[in-house]
Amino acid sequence: MQVTTEVFVLYPETNNFSSNTYLITGREPLLIDPGLHSKEHLGAFLKSHGYKLSDIKKIVLTHAHADHFASGKYFPKARFFISEQDGLYLKTKDDFYTMSEFFVNHYYPDNLSFLKNEEYIDLGSSKYKVLITPGHTSGSISLYDKKNGIFISGDLLFEDSCGRFDLISSSKAELISSLKKVRELDFKILLAGHGLVFNSSEESQRKTIEQVLKLLI
Ligand SMILES: [Fe+2]
Repeated sequence: MQVTTEVFVLYPETNNFSSNTYLITGREPLLIDPGLHSKEHLGAFLKSHGYKLSDIKKIVLTHAHADHFASGKYFPKARFFISEQDGLYLKTKDDFYTMSEFFVNHYYPDNLSFLKNEEYIDLGSSKYKVLITPGHTSGSISLYDKKNGIFISGDLLFEDSCGRFDLISSSKAELISSLKKVRELDFKILLAGHGLVFNSSEESQRKTIEQVLKLLI
């Protein structure tokens, strides 16, 4: 499904616990969270936008949970970009931290690059700022395209709620401070790790965060 002229979302198929996957086209295609989709589902999505699985060279992982990264195995030429903190758990193949047992995953990407807070991912026509926004996991990241008013939240923020903070390496205090940080951003389009794309006004995005914070504090 098309979100903007350059951003596309792949929702999971029915009865699949996968995260959403986002494709951002530009100088080179960028994939955010390959999810836990079947190879066919991912392949058909990319094909409809003129790409093959092997055309994807760069994948950003919002965090190291298997429902977000397990289908990375279908991208033979991809390098994976993640925070150093969460990347460590991919390196050590930590089944517990990555929820791989729960999602029955045995794959861990090994060609990793680490993203730093406030670094930019420049795609030519759009530019995404990396924000380390811990809480759901200790190394969760978000991406912010100020010019186009787009915020990619991973499992920090959903359309009307926030991510779980009862998992290993979760922290409610960190989640609250990350949400406060995000509240200061100007974005109209929320691309969350699960659920529907939320396309609204900056004001109503801020209101949602306020409501979520009220329930947390
Ligand atoms: Fe998660």
